[in-house]
Amino acid sequence: MDAIISMCTLDTLTKAAANLKRGGIVAFPTETVYGLGVDATNEAAVHRMYQVKGRPADHPVIVHIASKDDVNYWTQNVPDYAVNLMRDFWPGPMTLLLERSENVGDFITGRQSVVGIRIPDHVIALNLLNSFKKVGGKGIAAPSANRFGAVSPTSAAAVKAELEEYLAPDDQILDGGQSIIGVESTIIDCTKANPIVLRPGAVTAAMIEQSTGIVLTTPESEAPRVSGSLTQHYSPNAFVRLGVDAAAGDGFIALEAIATPAGAIRLASPKTDEQYARELYAALRAGDEQQLESIWIVPPTGDGLAVAIRDRIERASNYSDSCQVEGI
Ligand code: TXA
Ligand code: MG
Repeated sequence: MDAIISMCTLDTLTKAAANLKRGGIVAFPTETVYGLGVDATNEAAVHRMYQVKGRPADHPVIVHIASKDDVNYWTQNVPDYAVNLMRDFWPGPMTLLLERSENVGDFITGRQSVVGIRIPDHVIALNLLNSFKKVGGKGIAAPSANRFGAVSPTSAAAVKAELEEYLAPDDQILDGGQSIIGVESTIIDCTKANPIVLRPGAVTAAMIEQSTGIVLTTPESEAPRVSGSLTQHYSPNAFVRLGVDAAAGDGFIALEAIATPAGAIRLASPKTDEQYARELYAALRAGDEQQLESIWIVPPTGDGLAVAIRDRIERASNYSDSCQVEGI
């Protein structure tokens, strides 16, 4: 695999777009986390991307597009409230699940009738999408650029560490610095009368209600499958535990105001929820690099972005608990 490409000029992005068109894999930065991109109309490329990720083949993947004009190619019967959401939050950390058009392959949706669409808010992602469009590309299918079930990468170095051994010589990793948001996009099911949040993110419930004028209800059991909503997900190798009972040598993550337990290794001290989201995954990776057995986390309280941070922390800790129970 090529080295990480750090200076992403227009020329680099034109080459990366051509690489995608040939069926190559291009990992790219977004404002949420890094994505593992392939041509969303190329079934073989999507299959290879799934192999690199180690993800089961029947899982759906988000299609990233350059502009709202591209929505119609992939979807149909878009409800008015979804148009409001697009107007208010795209480009941005929001994925809409919409009724798919006949252009969408089963290999994108896991055979479901809905497709996930997002316009990311990152200059490199948007320029890559526009360059891809110029060579006839319709959209870039991209899951988070981590092995299935692991922590999403928020830097090019983290992508390399996760996937280098699985990528081919011509695949590329574009470096766009640290992801500014740090947790994955809000996923909103827009196939029902009202929007349903399937994965919380930086577009919060209050923002969605404000944009749509609709009061949100809790998810329905028949909602489409979202692999990121498996209770075991986003997990480091260390056992993740909630609270302040860290022993000497354990990792510890909490807001700055919360003191480090004696002998624990402080992995992050965010001052705000925004900083918490931005630093969480890098802190979990740092704990794994130091081969810590346990990482103790005090989740943030309250609404807004704190909901998404708690969601990811709880999933990381669920995984650890079930491993412990099974003695793995
Ligand atoms: O912020 C993000 O959303 C990042 C960046 C790269 O865009 N992407 C990301 O993708 O987190 P991924 O695949 O790791 O998580 C997306 C989730 C998965 O759980 C997937 O199952 C779900 O969205 N999803 C995607 N398309 C879907 C569809 N058509 N129906 C139901 N769920 C879908
Ligand atoms: Mg993911």
